[in-house]
Amino acid sequence: MTETQFVARALSTDRVAEGKCSWQSPSNIALVKYWGKTEPQIPTNPSISFTLKNCFTKTTLHYRRKAKTDETFNFEVIFEGHPKPGFHPKIEAFFERILPYQGFLKEFEFKIHTENSFPHSSGIASSASGMSALALCLMSLEKELDPSISDSYFKEKASFLARLGSGSASRSIEGPLVVWGEHKEIESSSDLYGVTYPFDVHEVFKGYQDTILLVDKGVKQVSSTVGHGLMKGHPFSEARFRQANDHLSQLIPILKNGNLDAFIEIVEKEALSLHAMMMTSSPYFMLMRPNTLEIIERIWSYRRETGSKLCFTLDAGANVHLLYPKREKESVEAFIEKDLAHFCQNNHYISDHTGEGAKELM
Ligand code: DP6
Repeated sequence: MTETQFVARALSTDRVAEGKCSWQSPSNIALVKYWGKTEPQIPTNPSISFTLKNCFTKTTLHYRRKAKTDETFNFEVIFEGHPKPGFHPKIEAFFERILPYQGFLKEFEFKIHTENSFPHSSGIASSASGMSALALCLMSLEKELDPSISDSYFKEKASFLARLGSGSASRSIEGPLVVWGEHKEIESSSDLYGVTYPFDVHEVFKGYQDTILLVDKGVKQVSSTVGHGLMKGHPFSEARFRQANDHLSQLIPILKNGNLDAFIEIVEKEALSLHAMMMTSSPYFMLMRPNTLEIIERIWSYRRETGSKLCFTLDAGANVHLLYPKREKESVEAFIEKDLAHFCQNNHYISDHTGEGAKELM
């Protein structure tokens, strides 16, 4: 697929006066991280993530054809029941970006109702679930206008549009494992949209657990977008992009044979490499907090003492994602309660696990 295949045919909007659609779309957690991009939202290395289940955004899009088309985007955003003009610039920029692929956007006025399953100030990035939910709603409208589009095109284009809103959002349409970005051993992979991981996956990864320890619920000091930008001219960028490609190659046999020691080594190295890039960019910055490090140390001791296959990963923030097989759910939950919860703000953590992707709400 190339960009041009996502340009919608000139559609007659006459057939649709008004309507609404709703989608629930999950967050995801990367095993191999996306960090670095070029215009237009093209990743500088491929990434792979687990799609989550309990952390999601629900979005309802109400649309009504304008009496007279003008040159503006008309929309209103209601977040968790209250108008949210603060979201306007991001959504306006998103509409502008996807206009070449959805030429009908200026012919409608929209009301966007959106809410997250996770607390707003949890430090959990909502851009992946939020942008993918909105992209899916816009695809539902496109399908109203053109019922001939296929399910596979619908999903691929939803991921393509979501990517233009936020890179990691391209990995939130399907599940439980999604690759985004071209990789030489994954033929179907693309820089333009996420694809379901196409190879065999061992039983042990079914229902893999992700408990998110909320170490710092504050707003990030440095946005991901700025962080990606700092990979341009970064002294270690080439080595980092090569490492990410190599890690994905190494993960292919690991995901098949279920070698969790090898899995842990790659996943933790990815998390620390991501943060190492932040700590060595110009300007440099640090998103881990003292409690992030405390938690990591304790995970390592716990693993040494018990032989557990618990490991951690990090996003661009201080929160720690604990990844572990379902068979360890009870023991790891007891360990979290006893030894880790007090490192979280207000003892707050979220229990999640892998999921199958977004779903339409009727
Ligand atoms: C650290 O997708 O939030 O979570 O494309 O600028 O919106 P934009 O960035 P975003 O970057 C997330 C990066 C990451 C790693 C990952 O999810 O792969």
